[in-house]
Amino acid sequence: MPDDRGTVQDAPTVDETLRRMQAKLGGIVPEFELALKAELAFRINRLKRERNAVILGHNYMEPALFHSVPDYVGDSLELSRISTQTSADVIIFCGVQFMAETAKVLNPKKTVLIPAEKAGCSLAEGISVDDVRRLRELYPGAPVVTYVNTYAAVKAESDYCCTSGNSTAVLRHLFNEGHDRVIFLPDEYLARNTAADLEADYVAAPDPLDGADVNAGVVPGRKSVIGWRVRCEVHELFTVQDVERLREQFPDAVILAHPECHPDVMAKVDYKGSTKGMLDYIRNVDAPRYILLTECAMADNVAAEFPHREMVRACNLRCKHMNLITLEQTLSSLENLQYAIELPDDIIERARLPIDRMLAIR
Ligand code: 13P
Ligand code: SF4
Repeated sequence: MPDDRGTVQDAPTVDETLRRMQAKLGGIVPEFELALKAELAFRINRLKRERNAVILGHNYMEPALFHSVPDYVGDSLELSRISTQTSADVIIFCGVQFMAETAKVLNPKKTVLIPAEKAGCSLAEGISVDDVRRLRELYPGAPVVTYVNTYAAVKAESDYCCTSGNSTAVLRHLFNEGHDRVIFLPDEYLARNTAADLEADYVAAPDPLDGADVNAGVVPGRKSVIGWRVRCEVHELFTVQDVERLREQFPDAVILAHPECHPDVMAKVDYKGSTKGMLDYIRNVDAPRYILLTECAMADNVAAEFPHREMVRACNLRCKHMNLITLEQTLSSLENLQYAIELPDDIIERARLPIDRMLAIR
């Protein structure tokens, strides 16, 4: 991957920044807002060169930010990979805490910053180190796979990490290695959807864990995925009725959904995949129109990227955590070198192995 982020002199002027943003976002972001945001984007793009910083932007960033300041954009998996290939001294992660932590684990000597301190995630909040240790005791020998949407301390307790882009590949790898039970944490719906892809049984971990019958629901001789009980607070809101109504109103539209949605929703859509998977689909597959069941900002970002594609803006669901990352906060982050991700050395060391194993699986 080229890592040519340019010099301070290469930074586009305010007028040039505005012109580029207008070309990309005219019709998506109101003109008066673009003028304000272009000024911020100009200052960020100049300062990031002065600081030898690289900006990574998740696909859910709001359109004016997404299309103006990141050096690289992508899903969790792509951005993790990219973070290992940069020569920048500072990584600014325009995404949420667990993503920035993953970048820190992969780059312990670099300064990794997140523009908003409290950009969390309902999945990462929903599981603790003690929960993972208890599950390991209950299912001895079963490998633990943690979704990338977990904090580093939880990853440090696991054997493999995965994202929505490679959960099937990681679980298939473990089943092929001879494991018939895999603990998959913490997203219940991603666990169920991935188990279904592999024709394995989904078995909910007992609740509460104490005094539990761990064999309840396990069919001898069948592969099983032991899951936890938390969900994405955004994707769990999409319902089967939503899909049915969308089909009635837009019969020619292709509906794409993120695998953090309920399995019944997934059964009714045309394509399921990570945010990158959905983008690639829209880039490569011609359809009269497309509907995304995922965080709202992404439909705007896709519409700006592919003006020849018709996006139906079917939702108003935004992730309140992703939403905390703004151009204003990104500028403060660069000016004040805040908020630095700090992790204990032993967590960095132990979380590295599951992340490296994930990155090694294609
Ligand atoms: P992706 O890895 O597909 O980008 O998803 C991250 C996420 O948080 C989805 O809600
Ligand atoms: Fe977490 Fe859901 Fe927000 Fe993604 S959309 S960061 S899974 S709360």
